[in-house]
Amino acid sequence: MSLQERILALETEVKTAAADTAEAVERFRVAYLGRNGAVTALFDDFKQLAAEEKKALGQRLNQLKQAAQARLDELKLAVDQQRDERAGLDDPTRPAALDGAGSLHPITLVRRRIVDIFAHIGFTVSEGPEVEDDHHNFGALNFPPEHPARDMQDTFFVAQGKGVTPGAADALALRTHTSSVQVRVMEGQRPPIRTVSPGRVYRNEAISARAHCMFHQVEGLYVDKGVSFAELKGTLDHFAKAMFGPEVVIRMRPSYFPFTEPSAEVDMSCTICAGAGCTVCKHSGWVEIMGCGMVDPAVLSNCGIDPLVYSGFAFGMGVERIAQLRYRVPDLRLYWENDVRFLEQFSAEAFRG
Ligand code: DAH
Repeated sequence: MSLQERILALETEVKTAAADTAEAVERFRVAYLGRNGAVTALFDDFKQLAAEEKKALGQRLNQLKQAAQARLDELKLAVDQQRDERAGLDDPTRPAALDGAGSLHPITLVRRRIVDIFAHIGFTVSEGPEVEDDHHNFGALNFPPEHPARDMQDTFFVAQGKGVTPGAADALALRTHTSSVQVRVMEGQRPPIRTVSPGRVYRNEAISARAHCMFHQVEGLYVDKGVSFAELKGTLDHFAKAMFGPEVVIRMRPSYFPFTEPSAEVDMSCTICAGAGCTVCKHSGWVEIMGCGMVDPAVLSNCGIDPLVYSGFAFGMGVERIAQLRYRVPDLRLYWENDVRFLEQFSAEAFRG
């Protein structure tokens, strides 16, 4: 066999060699790369060649040596890994692998962040039931009996007794907003009250990219002597900057809610185009982030708080909306599908909860 043929034959041999124990790996090393090994022997023969042939075969020979070394490393690694695995299985005290640890849902991350921002400025956290009665969800909040929200078209009523009478004083429904928690807090506590209420809410909506029949809100309430609209604006401005960055500004537009007077809608300068105009802000430079207002004196009275002594402000925001602006998620349905490819993208973020 010529030297070239021997190189070729050895190359195939080396690349397909197997070894599943440390001893077999050592035998491989000795057989090919050891002092009397087959590859080493070729180098001795190589020395005898004429200069012309050396030139042609030198590189091939080096490649063979590298291939043998690479195969040796590969076999050694595999055997080491196997040994480690076996040792690992035998050790029940070994810490579990962190591989595949879960991550917080983006809605959880954003809800915690919102609550955290208000907690830092003295707001407590309160919660109420998701199945709510008419009084807390509508009546005490000044919704007149004929208000469209009290219709089955808009609200999921929970069957009670023989039938369901939407709007009846004893009707139970899935709460349509977290404003119901305001009522529970005011009924149960005396001012000063400063609280935020995060929670899930339900509306009878067809599911689409922009609407869902369940979503999350965070409600805010501040009741004390002499609470002013200026404090409301200052508080929400602080929130927007803490959530989205010091460069954002807010504006308020007059609006209407049955439970606040005056009421306002809060817009924030678009974080996506910085006010230049894009599809998210519909080229206006502003995006709506929440509703708010001064607690209607009738609502204070309904909850046993004297409106001649106390005043308050309230606000309510959608967590999905805030998350959409923070993460630029274009379709609300993604929050509910729990596709791991979507959820994994939030694994690097952790807000203190
Ligand atoms: N409850 C309102 C809604 O679901 C949001 C809201 C608006 C809450 C104004 C408030 C408020 O507390 O003052 O659309």
